[in-house]
Amino acid sequence: QKDYQDILTESHGKVGLITLNRPKALNALSSHLFHEVNNALEKFDDDTNISAIVITGNERAFAAGADIKEMMEKSFAEVYKTSFLGHWGKINDIRKPIIAAVNGFALGGGCELAMSCDIIYAGEKAVFGQPEIKLGVIPGAGGTQRLVRAVGKSKAMEIILSGRNFSAQEAERWGLVSKVLPVDKVLDEAIRLGQEIAGLSQPSIQAAKESINRAFELSLREGCHFERKLFYSLFALKDKKEGMEAFVKKREPKWTDE
Ligand code: CAA
Repeated sequence: QKDYQDILTESHGKVGLITLNRPKALNALSSHLFHEVNNALEKFDDDTNISAIVITGNERAFAAGADIKEMMEKSFAEVYKTSFLGHWGKINDIRKPIIAAVNGFALGGGCELAMSCDIIYAGEKAVFGQPEIKLGVIPGAGGTQRLVRAVGKSKAMEIILSGRNFSAQEAERWGLVSKVLPVDKVLDEAIRLGQEIAGLSQPSIQAAKESINRAFELSLREGCHFERKLFYSLFALKDKKEGMEAFVKKREPKWTDE
């Protein structure tokens, strides 16, 4: 699609692909770029032909962070009054699964964008980090919250307080990344996973994502209660009847997403 300057969008069957495309700035996440990402996410979310979304960069960088050149001259009053980075939260409202396919640098806001996705696949040479401390600030797009939930307090403190980078292999060992793949396989595998998800009953996929995300917001008791209610509600779907009947009759289910 040609309406964007800093990203590219295309579809691979039922998977919508967003490619961050400011290679000279290592895909630094300017406000302009992020508004385009939000716009593309919303379009894919509303597109009934799309069931999963992949966000990627290039081999050198997924994204090297928020745009430091844009932030350099900004004052407290300006960022506060305009709720700078406020629009970075839009991704959390997307109903469809989002997979980050990460090669190269995923630093600062780049790491935070990856962590805002539902699943992260990383290339063997990917480099993650929250180096904001070295700029005299702290992560501002959920890094202190999402990293600690993903890897625990000691590692999150070590990473964010020192600003040291960490490898794809460390990220996988710590549970931040679900798979490490050869550099040239990351995107293909992310799209393949998206297609696998797209082949299932979409209301159940949406419910599963919604329920998993509640784990970050609710107590265990409340979370399990929410899950149970959602589980019951899926009994209203034709796809529930189809899925269970297909199992019993030993045939493939035909999903209608209803
Ligand atoms: N913002 C703006 N421009 C950036 C950038 C960023 N975050 N990261 C890289 N660039 C630009 C560089 O300024 C450079 O531009 P010029 O050619 O015009 O000089 C170009 O991208 C290439 O970068 P380098 O020459 O620095 O490439 P390198 O290979 O020597 O180093 C790097 C790569 C280690 C990733 C280095 O670019 C770097 O440290 N980048 C900044 C990483 C960072 O601090 N990120 C956190 C940003 S703050 C943030 O994200 C806040 C938040 O929580 C939301």
